[in-house]
Amino acid sequence: MKGVLVSATLTLDTLFRAAFTAEDPSVELLLPEEVDDPAAIDFALAWRPQPGVLKRYPNLKVICSIAAGVDNILADPELPDVPVVRMVDPKQSEAMALFVIWHVLWYQRRFDLYLEQQAARVWQRQPQRGAAETTVAVLGLGRMGSVVARRLAGLGYPTLGWARSPRAIEGVEVLSGAEGLKQLLARTDALINLLPLTAQTRGLLDASFFARMKPGAYLIQMGRGPHLVENDLRAAIDSGHLTGASLDVFEQEPLPPDHDFWAHPRILVTPHCASDATADLVAVQTLAAARAAVAGAEIPNVVDRAAGY
Ligand code: GLV
Repeated sequence: MKGVLVSATLTLDTLFRAAFTAEDPSVELLLPEEVDDPAAIDFALAWRPQPGVLKRYPNLKVICSIAAGVDNILADPELPDVPVVRMVDPKQSEAMALFVIWHVLWYQRRFDLYLEQQAARVWQRQPQRGAAETTVAVLGLGRMGSVVARRLAGLGYPTLGWARSPRAIEGVEVLSGAEGLKQLLARTDALINLLPLTAQTRGLLDASFFARMKPGAYLIQMGRGPHLVENDLRAAIDSGHLTGASLDVFEQEPLPPDHDFWAHPRILVTPHCASDATADLVAVQTLAAARAAVAGAEIPNVVDRAAGY
């Protein structure tokens, strides 16, 4: 089998080639410039491929995202009509849960203020706020969000969740629909976004959304940059309505050096690093998908292209 590795924004060959060879030495994973015969390519492994690039391979049978999200691939208006597969990595979900817990604690125990105080050599104790006094909410209860919600609930945080359709997660109060979101926003102290990026969720985190949030609440944005209207967030924080935000994803990545979020005292910026699927798992799941596609068998973890996830 032969695959092509396409990304407009990351150099992925060093990361993935060894993992693919370890999983199956007979598989060739090529960069686009190494492909002599485009018709020989069976599968693509992609992250933000340049639009129109994937249609160059006429016998492509499946396209796999290196990530849990597939918005980066579905954005191609000329995407070939073959199954698109996402990665489903339990270790990635657990890593996300730990990353989110760190940010909840950052807000809950006001590490932002302690850092400022340290810089100013100020010895001042902030009120101690417990988990029971910090309501958290997770938007998006898929493979990632459901694990994050469960872990937070297990630590004693009153935990809400929001999903398109009602579902049961132990220890989590699940709300759905527009009315459910309204109720959730009014009750939440730390709001975690883990929604997939779709036509319905693009721009969801805007001025009207922030206006519904409880005064003093905090945003932990781990979804996709275009969920957030950045100017509306800045206004909601600068007016004092929100305490601040942790942002791991941005409208433009890398975040441009002159972007004012870098220096905002109430915004914590990280470089889309919350959690990745491991290279070994990407190799195993991509090759399982490619083998199934070549054999005409059912392919695991295919996304619903219409739904967008
Ligand atoms: C990372 O952003 C992912 O979708 O896995």
